[in-house]
Amino acid sequence: MSTAISPTAYNYKVVRQFAIMTVVWGILGMGLGVFIASQLVWPELNLGLEWTTFGRLRPLHTNLVIFAFGGCALFATSYYVVQRTCQTRLISDTLAAFTFWGWQAVIVGALITLPLGYTTTKEYAELEWPLAILLAIVWVVYGIVFFGTITKRKTKHIYVGNWFYGAFIVVTAMLHIVNHASLPVSLFKSYSAYAGATDAMIQWWYGHNAVGFFLTTGFLGMMYYFVPKQAERPIYSYRLSIVHFWALITLYIWAGPHHLHYTALPDWAQSLGMAMSIILLAPSWGGMINGMMTLSGAWHKLRTDPILRFLVVSLAFYGMSTFEGPMMAIKTVNSLSHYTDWTIGHVHAGALGWVAMISIGALYHMIPRLYGQKAMFSTSLINTHFWLATIGTVLYIASMWVNGITQGLMWRAINDDGTLTYSFVEALQASHPGFIVRAIGGAFFASGMLFMAYNVFRTVRASNPVEAEAATKIAVVGAH
Ligand code: HEM
Ligand code: HEM
Repeated sequence: MSTAISPTAYNYKVVRQFAIMTVVWGILGMGLGVFIASQLVWPELNLGLEWTTFGRLRPLHTNLVIFAFGGCALFATSYYVVQRTCQTRLISDTLAAFTFWGWQAVIVGALITLPLGYTTTKEYAELEWPLAILLAIVWVVYGIVFFGTITKRKTKHIYVGNWFYGAFIVVTAMLHIVNHASLPVSLFKSYSAYAGATDAMIQWWYGHNAVGFFLTTGFLGMMYYFVPKQAERPIYSYRLSIVHFWALITLYIWAGPHHLHYTALPDWAQSLGMAMSIILLAPSWGGMINGMMTLSGAWHKLRTDPILRFLVVSLAFYGMSTFEGPMMAIKTVNSLSHYTDWTIGHVHAGALGWVAMISIGALYHMIPRLYGQKAMFSTSLINTHFWLATIGTVLYIASMWVNGITQGLMWRAINDDGTLTYSFVEALQASHPGFIVRAIGGAFFASGMLFMAYNVFRTVRASNPVEAEAATKIAVVGAH
């Protein structure tokens, strides 16, 4: 085996741009999360202005953390992984640059329109039609860049991480286009093409698969590359990864109705969604176990490597939230959890524990390599970040479990004469301490991102253009 440097180079420019913006949007989106969490503790923070009310800022939070922070992390890592595992440059620098600027334009559009109150009202699909169309165009170009690069690969097979990224790209396009079918009546108002229970079903088919494909499948692509790389071990089982892939994508698409239990949706559809959600535990845990077992023989590295710790703890939270989800999909459990903070706790076990932590781990692995450095500026700052993120996540989800179960039980408590035992306000008062703990947990998590920003800044500043350029050279391993 010989290692040679080929004259062509990877396109790391677009990866660097997306990586830096992941940190920037992470700070803004999570900072806003802390702000809206504080509004639930101190309502005065709504500031008496319509633009800063909880109702307007909440969708801005979800758009910033999912599409801006999560989206940029997925763009950055998928462009990095596809080039390295296919040993070839992205097919077009211009198209790749278009995806970067187009994606940032969509996010800035969200930043302006959501506080102004322009919204389709569909959760996670709030952006009005002009922005939705721009998003669709950017996404199609993303697909062209990603799959085009795969077609000109220099390796024989397609690494499994790319399968996950590929499914995430294809299914996200399908979901977005179908759920956004609507009739525009003015520049900033449109009405859904669907009505009644059909509209609700399409929306939650979209909503659940946004979780399944955007917040899960894409990040599993990340997991399949960065966990083995950071652990310096091959993936535990390649066969399991293929079974995991097909089982996951086949099952996820059917589980949406668990968001619509006890609604006007036909009963059979609700039961089907529940059954599929329970079965979904198997492939989810298959993936989690495959990632965890990759560390066999390398567990000792966890003692000294905080990046690996981020990656492994993210897998633990993935396992936890994909155990909790199927349980919450059972109709009788859902009758307690639905509408309560339990759902919010589940969301953030996945969002903070899994999505954010795996992204942070992947960025810490990638950034020094993108800038021609051996390591991040400070390992102890990564360690501080790790503990802030872990403690923050635990405070967030534990407080929401307590709140959720308290709310669910108080709402259903009935006196002997059939009247409600507690008023809604009493349940709200009981939730107040939990809201405070959640805001503190969120502040822990968000402050960790500031440590990251400083560490990234110092790492980037330490690099010089020659080293950064050398890092982009394609190392061709073996006899090609
Ligand atoms: C510092 C970190 C964060 C804090 C303090 C925070 C706080 C919040 C708050 C207060 C809400 C509204 C809850 C309610 O309506 O009762 C919320 C909703 C939400 N957040 Fe976060 N968040 C954070 C990070 C994230 C991240 C990183 C993601 C995704 C990657 C995320 C995804 C969501 C989603 C999807 C919802 C809507 C949940 C639902 O409708 O059930 N959050 N967040
Ligand atoms: C096997 C995997 C999973 C299953 C079966 C599942 C199931 C569920 C169920 C039953 C709900 C509550 C629906 C309701 O009462 O309205 C829910 C909500 C949610 N889950 Fe999961 N979950 C899974 C994994 C995840 C993961 C890994 C994440 C995040 C990365 C996540 C994010 C969410 C979000 C954002 C919501 C709130 C949706 C909303 O109402 O706005 N889930 N999930």
